[in-house]
Amino acid sequence: MMSETLMNTYARLPVMFSHGEGATLFDDQGRAYLDAVSGIAVCSLGHAHPAIAQALCEQSKKLIHTSNLYIVENQLKLANDLIRLSGMDKVFFGNSGAEANEAAIKIARKTASNRGIENPAIIVMENSFHGRTLATLSATGNTKVQEGFAPLVQGFVRVPYDNVEAVKNAIAANPNVVAILVEPVQGEGGVHVPKAGYLKALREICDQHNILLMIDEIQTGVGRTGKWFAYQHDAILPDVVTLAKALGNGVPIGACIARGEAATVFGPGNHGTTFGGNPLAMRAGVAVINTLEQHNYIDQVAQQGAALVETFKQSLANIAGVVQVRGKGYMIGIQLDRPCADLVKMALAKGLLINVTRGDTIRLLPPFVMSQAQTQQLVDGVTQLVTEFLTNP
Ligand SMILES: Cc1ncc(COP(=O)(O)O)c(C=O)c1O
Repeated sequence: MMSETLMNTYARLPVMFSHGEGATLFDDQGRAYLDAVSGIAVCSLGHAHPAIAQALCEQSKKLIHTSNLYIVENQLKLANDLIRLSGMDKVFFGNSGAEANEAAIKIARKTASNRGIENPAIIVMENSFHGRTLATLSATGNTKVQEGFAPLVQGFVRVPYDNVEAVKNAIAANPNVVAILVEPVQGEGGVHVPKAGYLKALREICDQHNILLMIDEIQTGVGRTGKWFAYQHDAILPDVVTLAKALGNGVPIGACIARGEAATVFGPGNHGTTFGGNPLAMRAGVAVINTLEQHNYIDQVAQQGAALVETFKQSLANIAGVVQVRGKGYMIGIQLDRPCADLVKMALAKGLLINVTRGDTIRLLPPFVMSQAQTQQLVDGVTQLVTEFLTNP
């Protein structure tokens, strides 16, 4: 739907939601929809979660913003939580994923500058997504995202994803490589899960060459893959981790978390943001982490996510045109042999919210609070849609 007043940046679906509860959204006509998108991996605790609603109500009656000219109590609390859960050292709070990655890219550049490296390079992956700001779209491995925005930011060297040899070769060819920026699972790129041990191999290479390993956990982080951070599946520690999306369950927030040298390269004046780390966003982050810990949601995501992928593999097994079912935790991709963006509208008409990415891959990002009955409804709904779509072209 094209708007006369909004810039034409999104092809919006003709539906407007008025409220939600858990994994259900209601439109302005009162119709219910099962939400398997979660606002693109944001509302992991579902909609109108009582603990988050209460925290935001309380906080908004006290303070929403004071600025980073002063100490913000919950910045320290949320930073401590993130450090405890991630094994990292220090946090910078921003407002979005792209901003978190901008901070990471600046950390890499500043590290290079401190080390006397001119023209530093960051290794990035084909088919990646890191955001829409100039630096992050330059890092992104998708020409559609970059088209029309030349000149791009320089200093990125691109290699194929899930290919350790390609990284080694890129480092051998360029002595100025200072960092690797990588998604642990490519989300926008079609839910591509690398081979187990990929991040571990990158960690070893980074250690060998004194290069920063920077992991973009904006989509995967805060439990989405069944661990707090997806790098924990490989039992490694990165040098920089970026977060956003699920950390605020819908309140805009971003975080760049660093360790060791990378955690100390910024000094006053090197980086900043007016809104980043404001009391409302920090309170949301603290409430999200408390709630996830109290209810043990992330272990459930690990178990139920693996079961869900298996269930889809079985339910779609005999349907010609299904190329692959893949996923990690509650990040599931179903790749078809043809473009399938129309499925989103077909699903909407049936009261089901799904996403299609890269044109041919159904992406499911259910909220962690989805009930068993709703999960079954999702499996049945998607299986029926895919069958209909592939058998009645
Ligand atoms: C892996 C990854 N990095 C960065 C971003 C950009 O985040 P934002 O849209 O909050 O700027 C996204 C958003 O989809 C993402 O999935």
